[in-house]
Amino acid sequence: MISRRDFLRGVSGAVAAAGAIHPLLTWAADDSAVVIPGEEGLIVRSARFLDLEMPPAFIDSWITPVPHFFVRNHMHEPSTLDAATWELKVSGEVEKPLTLNFADMVRMEPHTVTNTLECAGNGRAFQRPRVPGVQWQRGAVGTARFSGPRLRDILHQAGVKPTGKHVMFHGLDEVPSKVPPFIRSIPIEKAIDEDTLIAMRMNGAELTRHHGFPARALVPGWIGAASCKWLSEIKVLDKEFDGNFMKPGYRYPNHPLKPGDPLNVDDSHPLTALNVKSVIASPTDDWTSKSRTVNIHGAAWAGDADIVKVEVSTDSGATWQAAQLGRDRAKYAWRLWSHSWKAPQVGDYTILSRATDSQGRTQPETADWNPSGYLYNAYDQVKIHVAT
Ligand code: MTE
Repeated sequence: MISRRDFLRGVSGAVAAAGAIHPLLTWAADDSAVVIPGEEGLIVRSARFLDLEMPPAFIDSWITPVPHFFVRNHMHEPSTLDAATWELKVSGEVEKPLTLNFADMVRMEPHTVTNTLECAGNGRAFQRPRVPGVQWQRGAVGTARFSGPRLRDILHQAGVKPTGKHVMFHGLDEVPSKVPPFIRSIPIEKAIDEDTLIAMRMNGAELTRHHGFPARALVPGWIGAASCKWLSEIKVLDKEFDGNFMKPGYRYPNHPLKPGDPLNVDDSHPLTALNVKSVIASPTDDWTSKSRTVNIHGAAWAGDADIVKVEVSTDSGATWQAAQLGRDRAKYAWRLWSHSWKAPQVGDYTILSRATDSQGRTQPETADWNPSGYLYNAYDQVKIHVAT
């Protein structure tokens, strides 16, 4: 937990240095290499707009360092972000519309939440039949400590009217022509949850440009899209927002679809909490082990539920053994897990992992198919060769 003094000190540094310390993405001239200040070793899934995936081998610490944290942008990042002129407007179904500046936000009591943020499309590349969209494999996910004022304290200042049922977020993204802006809403019950934040810090430092400087929503346990970056406007609505990124975007069918079927928007709902899921960080797919003893490890998470069990199979699912869960835990954060295994002989092996959560959900062998490949959560699987 960071102290209020540390929080204020760090944030006032951000005001002083705003503009200078948030370098823009720069491309190498020949276009073959992408240099992204602040990011290290991530897989570039898209350079326009920036979508960066964490390789699974980076899942080796409970808290993901910011340079390893995936980035998901639907459009251009704002070209100018200046804490000195930044404002957050609060309007709609409120008694007292507000405009807060950076200093106002810093003066509010901060709260810290350790949250696993996952893109709803993580794992989409494994969906069969294939689906369009960014082909994320395992790493559109990471865990960080997010800090900032509670959204409910801001809403309390504005005084939500009884007609206020949903809270809409709007960011400063630069919207290409003919593209609808990235605007979404969450229900008022989640907005006033004690852990829903307007985060200004990540892992103890100010947010970086890629992660939403100077402030972003942080809706713990829910799909990453709920956590709007570069926040500039909060509007309380009397009904759910129904723009493109709520409808038809980020919706899930109410009833299972046959693979290949289109989404019937009128028989679907907006995505909220994440699924139960585990991924294998090591060994990686196609790895050759020089030893019979293999340390199998990874992470498991379940949105707003707890992980109660992770099991590993080293014989393609015929038998399962319980993995050991890591000590570090927090309400909305993943659990690391590990399992030490001695291969009986030289050969090829398929290793699987599956997690079970406190709501009794277990990862399925095959994920429910949906046309955007959202919430993919089938058993994770890697194939390895044991050589000696
Ligand atoms: N907020 C804005 N303003 N614009 C965006 O494109 N992408 C969303 C969300 N917030 C997005 C946004 C999506 S889809 C995800 S998964 C998360 O940000 C990713 O957060 P990160 O880039 O900090 O990892």
